[in-house]
Amino acid sequence: TGLVTIDPGFGNTAACRSDITYIDGAAGILRYRGYPIEELAQQATFLEVCHLLLRGELPKPGQLDAFAAELTAQSALPEGFERVIDAFPSGTHPMITLAAAVNALAAFHTENADPTDDDQVERATIALLAQLPAIAARIHRTSAGLEPVATDSSLAYVENFLNMTFGKTEGEKGPDPLLAKAMDLLLTLHADHELNCSTSTVRVVGSSGATVFASVAAGINALSGPLHGGANQAVLEMLEQIQNTEGGIDTFIEQVKDRESKTRLMGFGHRVYKNFDPRSREIKKLAQEILNQPGANDPLFDLALQLEERALSDSYFVDRKLYPNVDFYTGVIYRALGFSTEMFTVLFALGRLPGWLAHWHELRKDPDTRIARPRQLYTGPAQRSVAARDNA
Ligand code: CMC
Repeated sequence: TGLVTIDPGFGNTAACRSDITYIDGAAGILRYRGYPIEELAQQATFLEVCHLLLRGELPKPGQLDAFAAELTAQSALPEGFERVIDAFPSGTHPMITLAAAVNALAAFHTENADPTDDDQVERATIALLAQLPAIAARIHRTSAGLEPVATDSSLAYVENFLNMTFGKTEGEKGPDPLLAKAMDLLLTLHADHELNCSTSTVRVVGSSGATVFASVAAGINALSGPLHGGANQAVLEMLEQIQNTEGGIDTFIEQVKDRESKTRLMGFGHRVYKNFDPRSREIKKLAQEILNQPGANDPLFDLALQLEERALSDSYFVDRKLYPNVDFYTGVIYRALGFSTEMFTVLFALGRLPGWLAHWHELRKDPDTRIARPRQLYTGPAQRSVAARDNA
């Protein structure tokens, strides 16, 4: 049909122009608004990166405090909202609760829900950024059967999240600084990744004129899949399975290479990176820093290191240019920080939120934006008649 071409998974289709994130997959380069991810990882905090993604620049002195104050002012959950999170049966996967909670947040922010009004959109954006940590922390505590911990406006963004999640130990001002630094770095490394599946979803939903709450909730659902953000949970489950299987790594790798088995090495491979994923390098360094501390050793980390080495020397992975991605080493760190495996993808969502928001804003301001509406190549039956069905 004329100019329509088929491109499953949109691997060759640019859906928009974007100023936010640059990726060179062949060279393993990732930059947020021009800044290399390695520099941001070492020299910027997650909150500074949120400012960079949302407002276009790293904050100047004074701007960061003002931005942090805007978030702190809105960090408590709206009155009555706790009931939404607490309504789910015990054992509900945290990503189900997270998506439902963000969708429901719109009902508690009706005064900020008009996606055509600049001021309302700005307030909704800050509300989402400010309140997602409290939602995530409450999900963690509710699913663990623990009493919730209130937001503490004296703490910084990431420290406040950790405090609401794990609670404060008597006599301490906030969470362990190494833990806070690790969490901050992981959030920074997840903050944006151009048109990945969840961000594309946010844009697709936003293109219909839906609210930022509805768009982000849709993004969270897209993230939950094991080929996307759900991979961080799947990696840990894979490592546990290998640990408990006779034959260990070798048997598992043979299974992956047996195309009939449909088994994938989770945390490996990427649509865009065909060299290495620069985020994975930073995360591996962090895992080494955290897990090489006295008493912090985790046999699953040693297993992951061996698995990576084994895969990278196997022609199956070399020929297909499959390298560890962002999800390969995050799980062992989250585990060391005290998160349950099912919470891992919620942490990815917390990190990716500023990216989703930045893209939603960019879409809204882009004069080229049209409702997302791909075409198809029809392969079903030609016209037939209902009356003739018995003779078919
Ligand atoms: N294990 C084994 N084989 C793989 C893997 C893997 N992890 N990834 C790709 N392949 C093979 C695939 O079978 C295909 O082989 P062949 O050409 O012989 O049929 C070839 O490599 C190309 O793969 P593809 O499926 O066409 O690649 P894609 O760009 O459509 O998929 C991916 C990218 C990330 C979904 C895929 O690599 C994958 O499933 N990885 C495992 C899940 C994972 O770790 N996801 C996280 C992605 S990164 C962060 C995020 O988005 O959350």
